[in-house]
Amino acid sequence: MNTTVVAIDGPAGSGKSSVSKAAAAKLGFAYLDTGAAYRALAWFCLERGIDTVGADGITDALSEFDFSIGTDPDAYFVRVGGDDVTGDIREPRVTKIVSSVARVPEVRSYLVALFRKIMAGVPNGGIIVEGRDITTVVAPDARVRILLTATEEARMGRRSAELTGVDASTTARELSSRDAQDSRVVDFMNAADGVTTIDSTDLDFEQTVQAVVGLVHSAVDKRGAVDKHRE
Ligand code: CDP
Ligand code: CDP
Repeated sequence: MNTTVVAIDGPAGSGKSSVSKAAAAKLGFAYLDTGAAYRALAWFCLERGIDTVGADGITDALSEFDFSIGTDPDAYFVRVGGDDVTGDIREPRVTKIVSSVARVPEVRSYLVALFRKIMAGVPNGGIIVEGRDITTVVAPDARVRILLTATEEARMGRRSAELTGVDASTTARELSSRDAQDSRVVDFMNAADGVTTIDSTDLDFEQTVQAVVGLVHSAVDKRGAVDKHRE
């Protein structure tokens, strides 16, 4: 396969989605937002009135979960069945329950398989895949593996800036409780072996995008040099 896979993990508010999308657009790569799939399933459970405290209803829902996602960074969409849910999956009621949906092992194995299928369908060039377990579970062999971090204070500040009309302390509380819940399932706070950490605390948005693009360029250049050597 000639596709360059770039795996990016990190906690909420570290900049994964926005930075990955912008970096993919700059590189001419596809972009896969794995968190959107967990959110879409949580939205689907809410629509169907499925109990998300236990795992059984969520697991059963998978057989009817008709999910699709756009991987063009300039034409991003999320659909469930015939509905465009791109905006709906960001609603607080979805954010509140998404971790309960994501901790179910059947959900994780189903979605990991789906992500790999999407990655395999990318024709050429590359794809940036972002989430919590991409560098460790979904694509541990990715050419570039990045942990995008920022201090809790910076991450909370960024999230509150995005949400108008929501009290900053409520945002902070919810964000840290979601990170704590998610951390029990996968470790995205510490870089696994071979994973490069980008701390975006003191970087602005453009500088963070450039840091990712720079790592991809040097990895691709290095591979070019190795391939040439082999010829
Ligand atoms: O962008 P934000 O940090 O709000 O979260 P997200 O990337 O949209 O992910 C939403 C939720 O999906 C997370 O809180 C995790 O519970 C789950 N998730 C996961 O378990 N594994 C992933 N690879 C991506 C997301
Ligand atoms: O996906 P994740 O939850 O990791 O973060 P995000 O939703 O992509 O980013 C949260 C916010 O932080 C966005 O509004 C970004 O534009 C902003 N951001 C920033 O201000 N400075 C950075 N260095 C990176 C992201």
